[in-house]
Amino acid sequence: MSRYPNQKLFWEKHHKADTHKAYIDSPSRFAREVEELFPPGATVLELGCGVGADASYFAEQGNTITATDFSEAVIRQNQQRYSNRNNLAFQVLDISKPFPFSKHSYDVVYAHLSLHYFTDSVTRKIVNYIHTVLKPDGLFCFMCKSTDDPLYGKGIQIEKDMFEKEGHIRHFFSETYAKELFNKKFNIQLLESGKEDLYGYPSAYIQVVGRNI
Ligand SMILES: C[S@@+](CC[C@H](N)C(=O)[O-])C[C@H]1O[C@@H](n2cnc3c(N)ncnc32)[C@H](O)[C@@H]1O
Repeated sequence: MSRYPNQKLFWEKHHKADTHKAYIDSPSRFAREVEELFPPGATVLELGCGVGADASYFAEQGNTITATDFSEAVIRQNQQRYSNRNNLAFQVLDISKPFPFSKHSYDVVYAHLSLHYFTDSVTRKIVNYIHTVLKPDGLFCFMCKSTDDPLYGKGIQIEKDMFEKEGHIRHFFSETYAKELFNKKFNIQLLESGKEDLYGYPSAYIQVVGRNI
């Protein structure tokens, strides 16, 4: 058993309490920006979709989305809310486990604030799963909290750039780390760091788009 707080229980509790409800109708800035890079009518796999605002936006733009999250509660809520959309499917998936999708099946894999919860070794496995399910030339778009975030270094250190604070585990990404993860798998199309309020808190992020090799 892990010595760190169980993140599935942590997130189920949040989603059952509807803590992200205020954001249901607000796709993220990152979603709006990267959607412009998608091929028309793209097949998109979203990882850690939460309340589904970005997935819903991608579907409205004419893409076909499989949006996933390991929280059964949030996936159930999304399935009810979006039951009338035939290009938007929600599915329970723990992204730290091998993906149940065929090789080369998606044009885009998208992860907004959902890739920064894992140790280095698990993160590298996830990047491999993504590399496998993406079509050749497919796009991998992600945004994570960066090592410049105000929460960096707070709480108990788990490993390099990874901390647990009040039951929440975060792995902060540097640009160097993102480049290393992409090495020999993705050609970097965009790599930027910046500051933005996320869920109402001043934050620092890194956003990356890579093209599958
Ligand atoms: C900060 S929220 C971001 C949600 C959404 N992408 C957004 O931007 O609003 C992180 C999400 O990742 C999900 N998550 C955390 N660990 C996960 C895992 N191992 N597998 C799948 N989803 C996970 C949580 O349930 C939560 O919905």
